[in-house]
Amino acid sequence: VMKNTTQHRKRGLYCLDMLRGTLLWAGLMGFYVIITLCPASCQLSEDDAKTLVELHNSYRGQVVPNSTYMHKVKWDENLKIIAEGYAVKCIWEHNPDLEELNMGENLFVSNKLFDPKIAMEKWFLEHLDYDYNNNSCQDDKMCGHYTQMVWADSHSVGCAVHRCDTMEGLSFEKATFLVCNYYPAGNFNDEKPYEEGEWCSKCPDNLPRCDQNLCGRNSAHVNHTTLPATPPACPLSCPQMYFTSLSTSIVLENTQM
Ligand SMILES: *[C@@H]1O[C@H](CO)[C@@H](O)[C@H](O)[C@H]1NC(C)=O
Ligand SMILES: *[C@@H]1O[C@H](CO)[C@@H](O)[C@H](O)[C@H]1NC(C)=O
Ligand SMILES: *[C@@H]1O[C@H](CO)[C@@H](O)[C@H](O)[C@H]1NC(C)=O
Repeated sequence: VMKNTTQHRKRGLYCLDMLRGTLLWAGLMGFYVIITLCPASCQLSEDDAKTLVELHNSYRGQVVPNSTYMHKVKWDENLKIIAEGYAVKCIWEHNPDLEELNMGENLFVSNKLFDPKIAMEKWFLEHLDYDYNNNSCQDDKMCGHYTQMVWADSHSVGCAVHRCDTMEGLSFEKATFLVCNYYPAGNFNDEKPYEEGEWCSKCPDNLPRCDQNLCGRNSAHVNHTTLPATPPACPLSCPQMYFTSLSTSIVLENTQM
């Protein structure tokens, strides 16, 4: 049943490639495979989390053309927990619960030491293959990570990294698997990620502050997210089941979004 309300907009951009055929399946999740060993840690450090938020915001404030309204993103613990629960599964597919959770997701895998800067740069560089005017990606290319990254309405992000001995759906071992979840979801079919125009010219009333071209709250309300103390780093034999007790449907009830 086709529904035409905003609540039932069709997700699509990130799956465009899938629709174009199996040849492009490899691009579906944008596989960036770099070869080395995974770090001993199975956890995203607090510094990494901060870096991920900062880089998201830095890239969001640099889009071309300029954006009239681009929400500053903040870290969200619930999204992080969902990402952790999914990352441990080590499956090279998008989380099937995304739609139900109105959540976007970008995935990245590497068998190098996890470096948030590299992952974010890879995603952002997809803008080179993206054409804003006709809202399309070059054939055989992947732009969905970029468009989710700079989706104006997505205001929260939470990510997790897990070390996967093997990845279901990928033929290499000892991967570091990065899952970033976004709320609300971006990448709706036939919608541009943001509106073109003068920076911050359409910031909503509750986000009046233009900071690095992004709409944010007044500084009095800006509190840097304090992450809980990072759990001890997993040894290399980090159990795959580490977070699997966190079911996404349980998390949903706490998500309050
Ligand atoms: C985009 O914003 C920059 C300032 O950040 C400005 O110099 C430039 O002229 C703007 N571009 C357009 C097309 O308005
Ligand atoms: C979008 O525009 C670009 C640049 O003009 C062009 O190369 C590309 O073929 C266009 N794509 C579609 C689907 O129209
Ligand atoms: C968060 O912001 C409020 C003001 O809005 C301030 O009173 C409080 O001290 C801040 N908390 C931290 C940890 O900075």
